[in-house]
Amino acid sequence: MVKTLSILVLHGPNLNLLGQREPKTYGKMALADINQMLEQQAQKLMVSISPYQSNMEGEIINLIHASLGLHQGILINPGAYTHTSIAIRDALAAVDLPTVEVHLSNIYKREEFRHHSWIAPIAIGQISGFGANSYLLGLQALVSHLSTLPG
Ligand code: DQA
Repeated sequence: MVKTLSILVLHGPNLNLLGQREPKTYGKMALADINQMLEQQAQKLMVSISPYQSNMEGEIINLIHASLGLHQGILINPGAYTHTSIAIRDALAAVDLPTVEVHLSNIYKREEFRHHSWIAPIAIGQISGFGANSYLLGLQALVSHLSTLPG
């Protein structure tokens, strides 16, 4: 029997405010709508997703640790922790699960402090700048990557 792939979806700090937070930069979709869109895409791709949002670095790290044995891949928008958190990068490296980093905005078009990601070097890849679609493209890329792995 083929086991359904399970993906941990992590939304970092301030993403709970999507829809009302700087809509010119992040769009008008609320986080719940993005999760619903992801759920529909997951069903089409025949995978399951577990979405979480946290404003706390330690909580995100605990969720990453808990993914071992439960999930086969991680889709993460680390929010501002992208640019600051070596601890989240180390947690992702520790569990060693294929990870795709996504951003709603194009971080390279914005302030210089957003141009560096601590996560990108340990991710399969990064998708940045397509609004809510970045998540869909990221999920697609992650599932396609996981499908090529043995087992
Ligand atoms: C973001 C980009 C980050 O620089 C910012 O701190 C966020 C959102 C994005 O999705 O575009 O909170 O990750």
